[in-house]
Amino acid sequence: AQLDTLAKRAGKVYFGSAVDNPELGDLPYKTLLSNASEFGQLTAGNSLKWETVQPARGTYNFAGGDEILALAKQNRQLFRGHTCVWHSQLAPWVEAGRFSAKELTAIIEDHCSRLVGHCKGEIWDVVNEAFEDDGSYRKSVFYNTLGTQYFETALRAARKADPNTKLYLNDYNVEGINSKSDAYYTLIKSLIAKKVPIDGFGVQGHLIVGQVPTNIRENFQRFAGLGIDVAITELDIRMVLPVTPEKLEQQKRDYAAVIRACKAVKRCVGVTVWDYTDKYSWIPSVFKGEGAALPWDEKLQKKPAYDGIASAW
Ligand code: XIL
Repeated sequence: AQLDTLAKRAGKVYFGSAVDNPELGDLPYKTLLSNASEFGQLTAGNSLKWETVQPARGTYNFAGGDEILALAKQNRQLFRGHTCVWHSQLAPWVEAGRFSAKELTAIIEDHCSRLVGHCKGEIWDVVNEAFEDDGSYRKSVFYNTLGTQYFETALRAARKADPNTKLYLNDYNVEGINSKSDAYYTLIKSLIAKKVPIDGFGVQGHLIVGQVPTNIRENFQRFAGLGIDVAITELDIRMVLPVTPEKLEQQKRDYAAVIRACKAVKRCVGVTVWDYTDKYSWIPSVFKGEGAALPWDEKLQKKPAYDGIASAW
């Protein structure tokens, strides 16, 4: 059986992939992406980021997002919106920091409600990458202008725009138990205490071959204990190039370990890879000399990692 089918048999909601618009011109790629037994969920990898979706104040551009949303609907796949509030790939008019707290609050409310309202009934990464690795708040324009109030502003606006959308906070380097995941645990607990709407915690899962944290399951379990879902939202496990058979075998074990952690925690609802093929991975452009992070290779052939995932589900 294929990956989404296996995930569902394990009691999960989906196994999915990110996708970016230019790749949809590649027909063999698009055909495999559209196989809902393999991928039960799609995330728009870039098209709903602030710089693209609201490049000027009040000017919304949903063209790229709509293409992926429509493809997901056509394929009967779930859709994850990514992302409302993030310091990166932010529109310059927001990043410039020229707004008062009152104005920026209104801007966040407008942005989040437009995005979530546009993709009703799906899943949203409402706030992305809000902490530094040491567990301190990231000094984004949002934090600098509003302090921690912006989480509540964004989440409430999202909930109001669509009561049926699952609302997540999402970040990297929070797979295991560490200062950063501790900070999320504390924040989410306080949001819940204030009755701020929050449905899940997304761990991105940008990992390194041979360096997968050993306490992912325990970490997931403590967030589940808060009464929210968890998901692995951007999984890839990169290696230093060149590829060797040994590294591919280690990568297979690493993928299996991540899947087993999700499988073991009832409230871990799904896993998304940050694209499925090395042909379109973001890794080589950002981590020099590294790559081959995904379960399919550049020729769209399955790697050992694929079998690691399949056997772990
Ligand atoms: C990446 C995209 O994949 C790239 O195409 C883009 O150039 C940069 O952003 N964490 C996130 C994602 O939440 O949005 C990032 O996506 C990868 C890291």
